[in-house]
Amino acid sequence: MKRQVASLAELVGNTPLVKLERIGRDTPGVELFAKLEYFNPGGSVKDRAALQMVTDALADGRFEKGKTLIDSTSGNTGIALSWIGAALGFPVALVMPSNVSAARKRITAAYGAQLIYSDPLEGSDGAIRHVRREIEHSPGRYFYPDQYSNPSNPRAHYLTTAPELWEQTGGKLTHFVAGLGTTGTVMGTGRRLKELNPAIQIVAVEPAEPMHGLEGLKHLGSSIIPPIYDPALHDRKLSITTDAGWDMTDRLLKDEGLAVGHSSGAALAGAYQVARELSEQGEKGRVVAVFCDRADRYFEPGRPAPRFPYR
Ligand SMILES: Cc1ncc(COP(=O)(O)O)c(C=O)c1O
Repeated sequence: MKRQVASLAELVGNTPLVKLERIGRDTPGVELFAKLEYFNPGGSVKDRAALQMVTDALADGRFEKGKTLIDSTSGNTGIALSWIGAALGFPVALVMPSNVSAARKRITAAYGAQLIYSDPLEGSDGAIRHVRREIEHSPGRYFYPDQYSNPSNPRAHYLTTAPELWEQTGGKLTHFVAGLGTTGTVMGTGRRLKELNPAIQIVAVEPAEPMHGLEGLKHLGSSIIPPIYDPALHDRKLSITTDAGWDMTDRLLKDEGLAVGHSSGAALAGAYQVARELSEQGEKGRVVAVFCDRADRYFEPGRPAPRFPYR
């Protein structure tokens, strides 16, 4: 237990692993566990990747003093980069479509990040193009981490998430299940776990529909494939519907007292499917799912949860 730290950055990682006692009763012989990534200081799994991208770039000179970090995210990576910028003392600029939620704008701006708005009609791809134009116009001014192609993103999970899981389960986990967004979590954790024990099954979860309500996850079939993604690294890829992800998110609240985001519900829906299959075949197992963030990140006063449009 770290009682005193020199910087908030030291508190990234070492998140708890909790056994899902109630839901696990559905799958006799197979235990279900959740890695609670919202225990990170910025409230999500993205603290790991953001910190690694910054520290690696500071170490090899890509991110020199005087440069501004720029990226195109309004989600958890934006929040992670914003607080790390404030904690370590460097400027952050975030490009996001002007129609992202007021909550997302306020959280990142509150840490002092400069917000640049791109055309709402062009979505997240428009925000990426905007960043690239900005960098072209001002050479040498920016450091652009670009989490989709930055090897430091999976490296964070290779160096931290996987060894933590190995230690927390006494090397006894049989299946690792996580959602695909940038794919960094599955790639980095999967690669290291396979080195530690090639028998561990790596299971990736993706939304079943191109238009879905599982924020943080990507439907790869209809998206630009992240350069860090290597499909050979997972043994299996499960498609989870928005409804299945949201139903499991609801169940986690009532059965386990866990209030998590919908990508966590989707990861557990995948883990549950795997656990049921094993249990029905009379096999034993320890299945771990990654819970990326908390439910309150998606609450907005006066707004109903946006489940309906995704049906
Ligand atoms: C809520 C949430 N879930 C899942 C993911 C996916 O993680 P990764 O980008 O490592 O694939 C993210 C990433 O942004 C996220 O914010």
